[in-house]
Amino acid sequence: MAAIQERVEAALARSLPAADHEPRRLHAAMRYAVLGAGKRVRPLLAFAAGAATGAAPERLDAVACAVELVHAYSLVHDDLPCMDDDVLRRGRPTVHVEFDEATALLVGDALHSAAFEALAAQPLAHDPQRQVEMVRALAAAAGSRGMAGGQAIDLAAVGRAMTLPELELMHIMKTGALIRASVLLGAQCGAPGEGELERLDRYAQCIGLAFQVVDDVLDAEGSTATLGKTAGKDAARSKPTYVSLLGVARARELAQTLRGDARAALADLGPRAGRLAALADFIVTRQF
Ligand code: IPE
Ligand code: IPE
Ligand code: MG
Ligand code: MG
Ligand code: MG
Repeated sequence: MAAIQERVEAALARSLPAADHEPRRLHAAMRYAVLGAGKRVRPLLAFAAGAATGAAPERLDAVACAVELVHAYSLVHDDLPCMDDDVLRRGRPTVHVEFDEATALLVGDALHSAAFEALAAQPLAHDPQRQVEMVRALAAAAGSRGMAGGQAIDLAAVGRAMTLPELELMHIMKTGALIRASVLLGAQCGAPGEGELERLDRYAQCIGLAFQVVDDVLDAEGSTATLGKTAGKDAARSKPTYVSLLGVARARELAQTLRGDARAALADLGPRAGRLAALADFIVTRQF
């Protein structure tokens, strides 16, 4: 994990404009939002899926940057006063606190564009049609039927009761969609065998939901110091979460069940899927 995190950090640093290029304040804020922290779970998933399908690391660099840039953009906007109104992210002041709100808005816009630039800048699949499909898949994952739509549902749900199926859909959209894209794009940089993309998709959907279930648990049980973001915000803002609907113990059980389902989906892939299996464990057992 550490080796890939380092590799991705370098690729992200290369992909972003230098802080002394105009407009300097925007470029400095973009680098601040992306570099130097974060677990890089989505890049790790892209690399692990690529390892399962024999993908070239240079292609995976581009996919890893694309998904992490979309993710970083989503965090900057998620923290804005008009959304979750958070002042701490990755152990540091949020972008709108360190810079200003207009800059934070533009950082999100620019990172979103940078993601697609990374995805389109070099050949990533031997069939160009495949690469167009990858671009489409990331766009869909980030859009109104994916992350942005999930965020809309999240904001509309503040202070309201939600059913379990409604909550599940919100989580699948706001967090699961981008995690799913990370796995599928990584896999498509290589040569997935017959039926393998479908199995990887099943894996990705399970861990995508598990990721946000665990995020809900950590918000309730973790400390601000460990999380690097303000703990207890979901309850304070009356957000429906797996913890508010099921309680911590049943939310944890659900995450474990999803981990088992995710690992079962990998069974036919054999040892090539070892890193994906390990990441399922990491996502469910992480402390931050
Ligand atoms: C936090 O994501 C936001 C969610 C989608 C739950 P991460 O937990 O991956 O945040 P970083 O990238 O490690 O900071
Ligand atoms: C965020 O969910 C999902 C995103 C698309 C950013 P949260 O609002 O729970 O993420 P945190 O807890 O602030 O990281
Ligand atoms: Mg939020
Ligand atoms: Mg938030
Ligand atoms: Mg959260």
